[in-house]
Amino acid sequence: MENENLLYYGDNLDVLRLHIKDESVDLVYLDPPFKSDQNYNVIFREQDGTKSKSQIKAFEDTWHWDITAAASYQEVIETCSDDVSKAMQAFRNFLGESDMLAYLSMMAPRLVEMKRVLKQTGSIYLHCDPTASHYLKMLMDSIFGVNNFRNEIVWHYRTGNLAKKQFQRKHDIILFYSKSGNSFFKPIDIKEYYVQVYGPGFKPSFKGRKHGEDKYGQYRMSFIDDVWDISAVFTLSKEHLDYPTQKPEALLERIINASSKEGDIVLDPFCGCGTTIVTAQRFNRQWIGIDVTHLAVTLIKHRLNDMFGGEVKYKTVGEPKSLPDAIALAKDDAYQFQWWSLGLVGARPVEQKKGKDRGIDGRLYFHDEPVGGKTKQIIISVKSGHTGVAHIRDLRGVIEREKAEIGVLISLKEPTREMKKEAASAGFYESPWGKHPRMQILTITDIFDNKGIDFPPQTNVTYKKAGKANKSNQNNSNLF
Ligand SMILES: C[S@@+](CC[C@H](N)C(=O)[O-])C[C@H]1O[C@@H](n2cnc3c(N)ncnc32)[C@H](O)[C@@H]1O
Repeated sequence: MENENLLYYGDNLDVLRLHIKDESVDLVYLDPPFKSDQNYNVIFREQDGTKSKSQIKAFEDTWHWDITAAASYQEVIETCSDDVSKAMQAFRNFLGESDMLAYLSMMAPRLVEMKRVLKQTGSIYLHCDPTASHYLKMLMDSIFGVNNFRNEIVWHYRTGNLAKKQFQRKHDIILFYSKSGNSFFKPIDIKEYYVQVYGPGFKPSFKGRKHGEDKYGQYRMSFIDDVWDISAVFTLSKEHLDYPTQKPEALLERIINASSKEGDIVLDPFCGCGTTIVTAQRFNRQWIGIDVTHLAVTLIKHRLNDMFGGEVKYKTVGEPKSLPDAIALAKDDAYQFQWWSLGLVGARPVEQKKGKDRGIDGRLYFHDEPVGGKTKQIIISVKSGHTGVAHIRDLRGVIEREKAEIGVLISLKEPTREMKKEAASAGFYESPWGKHPRMQILTITDIFDNKGIDFPPQTNVTYKKAGKANKSNQNNSNLF
């Protein structure tokens, strides 16, 4: 693990226990599901920019008291320190065997592991919202110690739905704790921060103000305080990637700059579409990201590539690396298998529903005409079980119905001779680059051998692109 950026696919409890050494990490930022009782969907955009009707459930934020929660609760009571055990028992007395207790029973062992992997000089920032922040603070007190509580940061933003029965809810809470009294912390000077954000030539907003005065004309200390007014990632912003609950890089910039140094190791065990990872990379930190969905892992790979090109080196762990691994993933979770294999060919998943999108598991969009030309599409069907010639015929019917240019069957199993013959009979799509078979069959073994879909090169526009990282101008608007 020395000097290597790592992206793990998997449940963070397993990854932390199996792969991350004691006292090896300088900074943890985590943004777990908040127990909002919602499903978070990835709503991909159509090529004209409108929201797609289809959406993919990226992750659930609904917890139930069941046998798994009860086992997790029991394990915490029996194996964790006295303080943690007492806090969890108090929660049980107060909350009963409820969904909130299930949520806290999921969080407790993970937070204990995060404390284990932090160095003595390290810090942890737990991002949550007022749904559970009061319980999480008590849990953090029991794990990290009341003495190591540093701040309850209020992140204030302006987006969200209109509320009519209470004041508008426009903030999240970030609980900041250190591992010990000997933690690293670099206060961020307000003036320095303006200059860092807007560049060395920045002057106008200081005209007529004294050092330490903010844009509202109020005097503040010269160091940034614990109420942060930072714009959320809105749909039209350059950072926006269609991943639910994506956090702004500006938020992570503050955390990373205050609680780590160049070369330090930053861990995000619920890393989503990789905001912590790309910000850590921009500020020359080493990073470790963990997420339990292949959708997130695929998005992070695209984001890193879009922002840094080939410049960033990292290893992915937990993804299938061989045919037996792929078979195991398909057996374990057919959707994760689909998302993983679609990600490998640069396609995105399609919501599984009856009717219109029947027979379609993924889509890939490309542009092979001069600017303003038509968006073309490739339709993908993924089969992890038995396949036969009927699947090729069905897919051919689907590409005709959808007026798609190319159809691809991704299969775990080798295709039969009849399947290949049927595919060959579909002819070719002709692009300015030449001829591309209209019906293609790719096995997982082909993909491991670096074979991809045959379509015009460099024309894939399926994923929304993250803007290129510009290290010299770490520019972000709406920071104050
Ligand atoms: C709120 S989102 C994080 C968003 C992230 N901060 C960003 O800016 O994109 C929570 C993420 O945690 C992941 N997750 C949920 N349970 C997990 C677990 N047990 N292990 C690893 N990741 C998990 C979900 O897949 C989701 O991507």
